[in-house]
Amino acid sequence: MTEKTIYLDNAAATPMRQEVKEAMDPFYVDVYGNPGSFNSVGHEALQQVDEARKTAARILNCAERELIFTGGGTESINLAIKGVAFAKKKGHIITTTVEHHAVLHTCEWLEKQGFEITYLPVDRCGLVTPEQVRDAIRPDTILVTVMYANNEIGTIMPIPEIVKVCKEKRVLFHTDACQAGCSQNLNVKELGVDMFTLNGSKIYGPKGVGLLYVRLGVQLEPLVHGGGQEGGKRGGTENVAGIVGFAKALELSQKEKEQENTRLIKLRDYLTAGLLQHIPKAVLNGHPTKRLPNNVNVSILDIEGEALTLLLNEHGICASTGSACTSGSLEPSHVILATGLPYEFAHGSIRFTMGRDTTKEDIDKVLEVMPAAVQRLRAISPYNLKLEEYISKEEQQAMMEQYTKVIVQ
Ligand SMILES: Cc1ncc(COP(=O)(O)O)c(C=O)c1O
Repeated sequence: MTEKTIYLDNAAATPMRQEVKEAMDPFYVDVYGNPGSFNSVGHEALQQVDEARKTAARILNCAERELIFTGGGTESINLAIKGVAFAKKKGHIITTTVEHHAVLHTCEWLEKQGFEITYLPVDRCGLVTPEQVRDAIRPDTILVTVMYANNEIGTIMPIPEIVKVCKEKRVLFHTDACQAGCSQNLNVKELGVDMFTLNGSKIYGPKGVGLLYVRLGVQLEPLVHGGGQEGGKRGGTENVAGIVGFAKALELSQKEKEQENTRLIKLRDYLTAGLLQHIPKAVLNGHPTKRLPNNVNVSILDIEGEALTLLLNEHGICASTGSACTSGSLEPSHVILATGLPYEFAHGSIRFTMGRDTTKEDIDKVLEVMPAAVQRLRAISPYNLKLEEYISKEEQQAMMEQYTKVIVQ
């Protein structure tokens, strides 16, 4: 009998919900019209796109015309950052060293076009402070872009506080909220953001669909010119099925948010405690509490994260070494390096991201398999590093105390 798959890579992609698939199905064959056509078939498609936009606008608490449907998180981010840059023509942009490559590579490309970029460093937990942002803002700063929650280590940035600084200084603010869609506050008016990126693939919706909220009044140069769709900000026939699926997924994940957060936080802390207690020379990456409810990321000395992932996979456990988007390259995680830890920690990192289907039994299985898998890899490892040479005894002690009390009911 094949073992059950224990899928703990929800930060890379969430499985699409059955309800979402059912909502999308009619828009492939039955409702095939172009939302831009002046006939009944086209009108039917348009009505559904309008409904989806209404749903998303209600959840984000914004006007429907402030929303642009895109081809995913990467496109939304490109539109937000380059859109502002091209509208302003020159200037300075502030971001952080731990952003997703969709942000970092966009900023690096803009640097080559003559824009100046400041990459703010983060602390050991992966946080930037509003003070850092304040100090970095210059008279020519045109945009600050800081992610809501980190895709690798799960750290949640102090977005409302950073927004406050940007408002005081009259600088536009964008956040990449791709990892925050299921668990965090998505009310853009409460958050005060000017632009806000979400995608379908992290909220149990379709891949290749995203959303960009752009506050009315923000000047944005479109990147995709065409038939004037999406308020002239993104040309091209709308992905009707994808947009309908995105809205359905967003609606469903919002309904169960509170309950799921409570459940996942217990599992997260239980898994963290178990790993730290049973695996010597393991440390938690990211913030102990200001982190996503479903994210556990640990670095384990003397082993390679990739090798560990393969061993876990033999037991049906799907984990990851970090960002799936950089898979194919064995580059160490830029996020873990940015938190000040050396290469050894980046190479030995492993990420478990839980989801709607994750149970306590799944976590127990991980805790049963992990110590032996680590031992097996250490037995053939040429390294025997000393944790205290990298992390003080006090820091280790504090980390253990945080988690030794955790018990799942
Ligand atoms: C934080 C973050 N930003 C951006 C993206 C890119 O989104 P997409 O794959 O939809 O283009 C991802 C997804 O991997 C992500 O986790």
